[in-house]
Amino acid sequence: MSNLTLCRTSGPPAFSVRPALVSDIEAVSRLDATNANAPLRETSEFGMDRWREYFKRYGTGRPRRHFLVATTEAGCVGFALGEVRTLDYTSAPYACVSALFVSPSCRGNGVGTALFEALCARFLGDGARNVRMMVPCVGGAETPMAFCRQLGMKTGGYIQFEKGLSA
Ligand SMILES: CC(C)(COP(=O)(O)OP(=O)(O)OC[C@H]1O[C@@H](n2cnc3c(N)ncnc32)[C@H](O)[C@@H]1OP(=O)(O)O)[C@@H](O)C(=O)NCCC(=O)NCCS
Repeated sequence: MSNLTLCRTSGPPAFSVRPALVSDIEAVSRLDATNANAPLRETSEFGMDRWREYFKRYGTGRPRRHFLVATTEAGCVGFALGEVRTLDYTSAPYACVSALFVSPSCRGNGVGTALFEALCARFLGDGARNVRMMVPCVGGAETPMAFCRQLGMKTGGYIQFEKGLSA
């Protein structure tokens, strides 16, 4: 599989999708800082250190883990990362999209779809036959839900339970 996927050659911003490089970390971190959903996370301290750590875990060469960026001539406009999991009570390997984000100024141009499809092609190559993505139930869930449905995703067969932990 070619590492570089050219996604658009005319019309609104031409972009391509490729595996993230260490030199993309700063741009990804800056892009992530524009995420309006950041307060929904358990911590908003997603700075450069956090993204360096993610690159170590998901960057090029990690088995069954992928970290992709979408770029235009202007630079990084989106990123996606995820992995194929096998050590779970479900027997078949399945893939999880851990993060998928497109610059607010570049949305509606197919960048999110291209990132998702590029991840899925890699997941398929890793043996996964199912892909999962969590979207928030509150705080502007409409867009990610519409996005997932457009990708052909459906509500999964599990309900997520969670509980805060304290010492
Ligand atoms: C969700 C997100 C990744 C979509 O990125 P994008 O590049 O705008 O998506 P695309 O242009 O590929 O859109 C694909 C489809 O999603 C749906 N969609 C995207 N944005 C939408 C919006 N604001 N309202 C309704 N539907 C929308 C549409 O059906 C669209 O298809 P169409 O253009 O043919 O109508 C982007 O809005 C984002 O980064 N949001 C914040 C982070 C997030 O929610 N991540 C995903 C879940 S964790």
